Amino acid sequence: ELETALRPRTLSEYIGQNSVKEKLRIFIDAAKQRHEALDHVLLYGPPGLGKTTLANIIANEMGVNIRITSGPVIERAGDLAAILTNMAEYDVLFIDEIHRLNRAVEEILYPAMEDYALDIVIGKGPGARSLRIDLPHFTLIGATTRAGLLTPPLRDRFGVINRLEMYAINELKEIVIRSAYLLKVGIDERGACEIARRARGTPRVANRLLKRVRDYAQIKADGIITYDVAKAGLDLLEVDELGLDEVDRKMLSIMIDKFGGGPVGLDTLSAAVNEQADTIEDVYEPYLLQLGFIDRTPRGRIATRLAYEHMGIPFEDR
Ligand code: ADE
Repeated sequence: ELETALRPRTLSEYIGQNSVKEKLRIFIDAAKQRHEALDHVLLYGPPGLGKTTLANIIANEMGVNIRITSGPVIERAGDLAAILTNMAEYDVLFIDEIHRLNRAVEEILYPAMEDYALDIVIGKGPGARSLRIDLPHFTLIGATTRAGLLTPPLRDRFGVINRLEMYAINELKEIVIRSAYLLKVGIDERGACEIARRARGTPRVANRLLKRVRDYAQIKADGIITYDVAKAGLDLLEVDELGLDEVDRKMLSIMIDKFGGGPVGLDTLSAAVNEQADTIEDVYEPYLLQLGFIDRTPRGRIATRLAYEHMGIPFEDR
């Protein structure tokens, strides 16, 4: 699949997240030198910033296999036990949306992470016995949008905790140029820059926009992505100059027109724009906060002067 074809396979191919890369490079090299499993890693941050990509890179750099699953998929303690007992020494287990593990499964994970052991209870009542099964030394990589979603005992069992940041425009531009090369589509600096500017700090968005602009270039131009082609293609997608889409603009216009700029509570906003509160918090808000278009206050979200200006509404008229 194309999505995976664009993913970097090594830390040195991976663009951006420099402080995360610098730390991981050291921890990976140290674990390899000692012939040990890498300590458990928690990656958190908004969707599309490369958590799954980094998990694959870590496994690749460690020279081990990766088993990929997600919190909601592991329904029973036995499901997790089956996965853990089938792994090889030093393998990586990647659990996406790890905050969505249920309690019974999470409790299996504690001794697995801490002691590489599985505690199984046999029988019920006074005759019940506990059996301990040794597991291979493995590395758990957990991913979540916000570290605060994890229970403290789970969070405390990760030795490496890294927050992924939104990407700078020049980093996204580099990613777009690399992806265009892999997709064998011609692009110039200014074309790449325009896609990067509208990618909301997110490589996944940048690569998606690149593919749509490539379609546009192929049908409406000569196949090369220049500034003019990128701009026309992106305007067609209704992605504005800052990368805001219909939902972002609807959120801002409701905050401004219906609530006088706020404060508006998350649930009120969620009902008004007809989007899940979680989606607003994890997908839409991080970029609007990053742009300085909204502020969070104890009483709810407020739209800032910058938001009014972007929406073309006089701030003074509040
Ligand atoms: N493709 C998606 N994310 C990337 C990144 N961070 N570096 C290089 N290519 C990517």
